[in-house]
Amino acid sequence: MKYDLWIRNGTLVSSRGRRKADIVVRDGKIDGIIDSGRSIEADQILEAEGRFILPGLIDGHVHFRDPGLTHKEDIYTGSRSALYGGLTYVIDMPNVHPVTSTAERLRERIEMARERACVGMGFFALLTEENLGEMEELKRAGAVGFKIYLGTSVGEIAAPPDGVMLEQFRRAAELNMRIGFHAENNAINDYFTEREMERGSTSSEDLIQARPGFSEAESVGKAILFAGETGAKIHIYHVSSGRTVELIRRAKAAGVDITAETCPHYLLLDRVDYGRLGPVLKAFPPVREREDRKKLWEGMLDGTIDMIATDHAPHTKEEKSGDIWRAMAGVAGVEISARLMLTEVAEGRLSLERLVALMSEGPARVWDLEGRGKIGEGYGADLTLVDPERTGVIRNDDLHGKTNVTAFEGVRTVGMPVASVVKGKVFELV
Ligand code: DOR
Ligand code: ZN
Repeated sequence: MKYDLWIRNGTLVSSRGRRKADIVVRDGKIDGIIDSGRSIEADQILEAEGRFILPGLIDGHVHFRDPGLTHKEDIYTGSRSALYGGLTYVIDMPNVHPVTSTAERLRERIEMARERACVGMGFFALLTEENLGEMEELKRAGAVGFKIYLGTSVGEIAAPPDGVMLEQFRRAAELNMRIGFHAENNAINDYFTEREMERGSTSSEDLIQARPGFSEAESVGKAILFAGETGAKIHIYHVSSGRTVELIRRAKAAGVDITAETCPHYLLLDRVDYGRLGPVLKAFPPVREREDRKKLWEGMLDGTIDMIATDHAPHTKEEKSGDIWRAMAGVAGVEISARLMLTEVAEGRLSLERLVALMSEGPARVWDLEGRGKIGEGYGADLTLVDPERTGVIRNDDLHGKTNVTAFEGVRTVGMPVASVVKGKVFELV
């Protein structure tokens, strides 16, 4: 039998361990895993000696801004950046113009991705005051999950009123769909933001007082209560505070189906980095204290946090500069998350197995992504090949997105995705 692709002599990695084996691919799928050293007939051979082969890395949280905000990013540039970062699948957010709250708009975006995306793409559908009746149709149209903004962020999207939201939780439970939350409390954020502005605060680190960790924890507590009442599955996006990690840990122990993600900027940066980065580091929720960072790491290592996503939130250089209260919140990151986390592996703070759990298996499990998150027969031929020793320095100008303002300019990395396979097609990345 002749295969389309034979990947030989690589070391396959899962959350449970690693082993040397070959992979054969046919029709965009993994056809088999076989012992290395055998002779195979294939149209194409990818030599993977000295490489780790990870199940295609997934970013469960990106903003590719398409349609409506394409001066910052679009589906082509965002997914090109993801591809160069070694990712094979991303899930995009609904805060575009118009917002993704109807099945028709969702179908349009899925079609755009089919035509223009360089990696696989899924989409979250926004829940608003109006679309309770459309949730089933949104599922049928292909939504990966639902999103609720409990606190407003970029795009000023309001949470549905509590009564409607309770019904939406019930409906999501019936549909077996998970709801993800931008978890912040508006009243708390508005009050303390105003207070900081009245005080004349101009320093970026004052964002921590303006949007305190308790604001996040309060709103996560509310989502947990609603989930307990309705049996809905929930997910907390971009966890930033230590007290939220504790809340989620307790809710999991109490049997709530709650999952969570955090991002490289919350894991690798803290208050001291505002001085150096200024408004570039502005994000909602904000990067916080060293102590929060420590608790995020504990949560990430003990399974309280299920995945690392980037919240890739590109803005132009102009939008990311100037007055801290007016600069836009969000940093780009889709192209550098794998490199950053591989560097943590190289430095011994994280195992490669745990990285696979957080960047591939986790998102595939949380969002029920069929055929993803595992190197196995019948799974999609989406793979990330890593050279664990290849070093580099992150330069925003080298990245492949449209605006590329990251918080990691100049950072030295060890370990890099050097090739990937997307739907059976090979890409050399360096
Ligand atoms: O900092 C952020 N930027 N947080 C969000 O929730 C949204 C994002 C964006 O869309 O720019
Ligand atoms: Zn986001």
